[in-house]
Amino acid sequence: MIRFYCAETYEGMSARAATFMAAQVLAKPDSVIGLATGSTPIGMYTALADKCSRGEITFKDVRTVNLDEYYGIDPTHDQSYRYFMNKNFFEKIDICLGNTNVPNGKAEDPQAECARYDALIDSYGGIDMQLLGIGRDGHIGFNEPGDAFIPGTNYIKLTEDTIDANSRFFASADEVPKYALTTGIRAIMQAKKILMVVNGESKAKILEEAFFGPITPANPASILQLHPDVVVCGDAPAMAIIAEKHPEAIIG
Ligand code: F6R
Repeated sequence: MIRFYCAETYEGMSARAATFMAAQVLAKPDSVIGLATGSTPIGMYTALADKCSRGEITFKDVRTVNLDEYYGIDPTHDQSYRYFMNKNFFEKIDICLGNTNVPNGKAEDPQAECARYDALIDSYGGIDMQLLGIGRDGHIGFNEPGDAFIPGTNYIKLTEDTIDANSRFFASADEVPKYALTTGIRAIMQAKKILMVVNGESKAKILEEAFFGPITPANPASILQLHPDVVVCGDAPAMAIIAEKHPEAIIG
C-alpha cells in the first residue's frame, strides 16, 4: 500500500516526515532505521533533532544503517556521507555513534565491504523503517537505472546524471567520486516500512512514473509499488503531477 501526503512547503513536508519517523521510534524504541543523505531529508533531520532536544523522543536504543557512501572517500571528508550524517543528524541527537552505520568508502576490497554490510543488516534482523529520497532518474540509494534490480549491497559506477546532480557539492564535476557502495533492492524492499521524502518540481515527473508507471529497473524506485507499506511525503511542486493525474491517491 502506498500513501501519499502532500504539504504545501518543504518545511511542511519535513515536519510530516519527522512525525512518521518519530512515531516509529516511539512505538519501537530499539528500531533499526535505514537512513539517506541528500538535500531532501535535511529538514526532517532538523525537525527530529528538535523533538529530541525537547525530550519528545530518544534515539538512545536506535540503530541506523545508511543506504550508501561514495567509494574512495575518507569518512572525514566533508562530502562523505558519514560526515554528512554526523553533522546533520547524529551530533544533534542522543544516539550512540557506535550504533550508526555507513558503508566504509575506504574499504580496501569493495566487494568484501558489500558482503559485510549485508551481513550487518541481517544481524540486526533487517530494517524497521527505511527512509528514501529519489533521484531525478528514479534512483534510490545509489541503485541507478539499469537492466536489472540488484538485490545485495553493491559497488557501482555512478551515472553521468548523478555525478552532474552531485557536482553542486564539489568544486567541480571532476572531483565527484565515480563509484559508490549502495544497499541493494533486497534490504530496501525487506524493510517493514518505507518513508520517502521528495521535494521540488524537478522530481514531479519521475515520482509519478515511479508509482504509476511500469515496474522496471529503468526506474529503480518503481519497485516500491510491490512494497506493502510505503508513505511518500512530498511538497506541492514534487506532487504536482500526481495531484493532477491521480488526485484520489493523495490522502493528506
Ligand atoms: C542518498 C540517496 C540518494 C538520494 C537522491 C536524492 O543517500 O540515497 O538516493 O536520496 O539522490 O537526493 P536529493 O535529496 O539531494 O535530491
